[in-house]
Amino acid sequence: MKRYSRISGTGSYLPPHRLSNADLVAELAAKGVETSDAWIVERTGIRARHFVTDGVYASDLALEAAKNALQAAGCTAQDIDLIIVATSTPDMVFPSTACIVQNKLGANGGAAFDVQAVCSGFIYALTVADAMIKTGVAQRALVIGTEVFSRILDFRDRTTCVLFGDGAGAVVLQASDTPGILASDLHADGKYVDILCVPGHVSGGGVLGDALLKMDGQAVFKLAVGVLEDTARATLSKAQLSEADIDWLIPHQANIRIMQSTARKLKISMDKVVVTVDQHGNTSAASIPLALDWAIRTGKIKAGETLMLEGVGGGFTWGALLLNL
Ligand code: ACO
Repeated sequence: MKRYSRISGTGSYLPPHRLSNADLVAELAAKGVETSDAWIVERTGIRARHFVTDGVYASDLALEAAKNALQAAGCTAQDIDLIIVATSTPDMVFPSTACIVQNKLGANGGAAFDVQAVCSGFIYALTVADAMIKTGVAQRALVIGTEVFSRILDFRDRTTCVLFGDGAGAVVLQASDTPGILASDLHADGKYVDILCVPGHVSGGGVLGDALLKMDGQAVFKLAVGVLEDTARATLSKAQLSEADIDWLIPHQANIRIMQSTARKLKISMDKVVVTVDQHGNTSAASIPLALDWAIRTGKIKAGETLMLEGVGGGFTWGALLLNL
């Protein structure tokens, strides 16, 4: 019998400290940085984001999201034999955040590793987990996107610091006789390293170079709208389906204008696009599983529906994944 992988539960977690645009505008004004709610909403669709407080790390957010996903899937940490964490803001240089989460869950013994593909990280991680389950390497995986981007933001740079937030989302993906994940498509083009990066690195006991996020927003915007259409079409073609078969589009939540443009190109109504960027900001690798969990828990998305997940981010990386829930 053919072996597939299926999502059996989702979970997410947002740190309690929520900043509306007005809160952030006031904090930035105190530092002499001028921005406004009107500019942020008009250019990005973002109205609020959550930030961690001191002493809270990516693994802490991941742990809460994972617990929620395990509960939804009706299983325990002991049933998990693979943990993949997508993050660009890991707790440590090493070991992986996945190993730290594994230990916090008390699920020791299975495979655990991180995937680093910035905002496409969750699509990459889910694709890897799907392949490992289909080939029999794993039975039941926790796939997590978790970020504390507030730690790498330059709060003197208004062109980037208003865009991002912290959070985590997780899914339990398990072996199944019936298809859950139908097709996926991954890409990268390393010549665009410089348009979105944190260029610093650890050396000799300190950080060398700049360890804050740098982004050429317009270059990212232009690339994003093109590749998101291409990867969605490529994924549909692999599954021999068409745009009309998509019940819900769950794009990486970076900017409402990128989402609108992608939906327009794919001829998908915005009513079928899951939008959380307004409340979460851009949570990088966490944004897609956060949006997925929110849409399931609010009853928007139902079992049996067909979902297109797609992401784009630093690298430059991009990809999409089509699944039956
Ligand atoms: N508040 C007020 N004014 C601002 C702000 C701000 N926060 N930021 C920039 N401005 C000003 C600029 O200085 C500029 O002023 P000027 O005309 O006097 O020079 C003006 O607003 C317009 O700036 P642009 O950069 O042209 O604004 P644009 O419409 O391109 O919007 C934005 C900028 C929102 C960053 C947009 O380019 C974008 O969304 N890009 C994609 C970013 C993205 O999605 N990144 C993440 C994808 S990958 C990942 O998730 C890691």
